[in-house]
Amino acid sequence: MAASPVEVDPVTVVLESHRNTPGALLPILHEIQDALGYIPRDAVVRVADAMNLSRAEVHGVVTYYHDFRSEPPARHVVQVCRAEACQSVGAEALIGQVRERLGCAKQERSADGRYSVEPVYCLGLCASGPSLMIDERLHARMTQEKFEQLASRMEKES
Ligand code: FES
Repeated sequence: MAASPVEVDPVTVVLESHRNTPGALLPILHEIQDALGYIPRDAVVRVADAMNLSRAEVHGVVTYYHDFRSEPPARHVVQVCRAEACQSVGAEALIGQVRERLGCAKQERSADGRYSVEPVYCLGLCASGPSLMIDERLHARMTQEKFEQLASRMEKES
């Protein structure tokens, strides 16, 4: 009889892979988020113990960096660049339109939990702004009309 596969805990795998790497807090947090989509509270405790840091220190890093999430991501994550080059070509108006369209005008996540709108600071498409990323897919030279098409597509997907 074949043994059933053992479920591997991603946090354990990440912590083990950095066991002998001092100062690896940021890579550890990035790898946990890549694996789980966010940094769960219990992972903060385990990382703190493994790195010999306080929970407050690890929590402080998680909340300081916009890249890290403390909650599971929404079904669709829209990241709008607010860095200088995109600002100069209308990023502020774009993020307002995106938030309004997705029901995120007053908070980062829509009430139904389907969408979140997050500011980011450069997506590497500076010459083609305003830029945004939807579910890890980059979109350049965004306009109101183009975003409306993308929003309609997201609505049909979920
Ligand atoms: S400034 Fe927006 S992509 Fe770089």
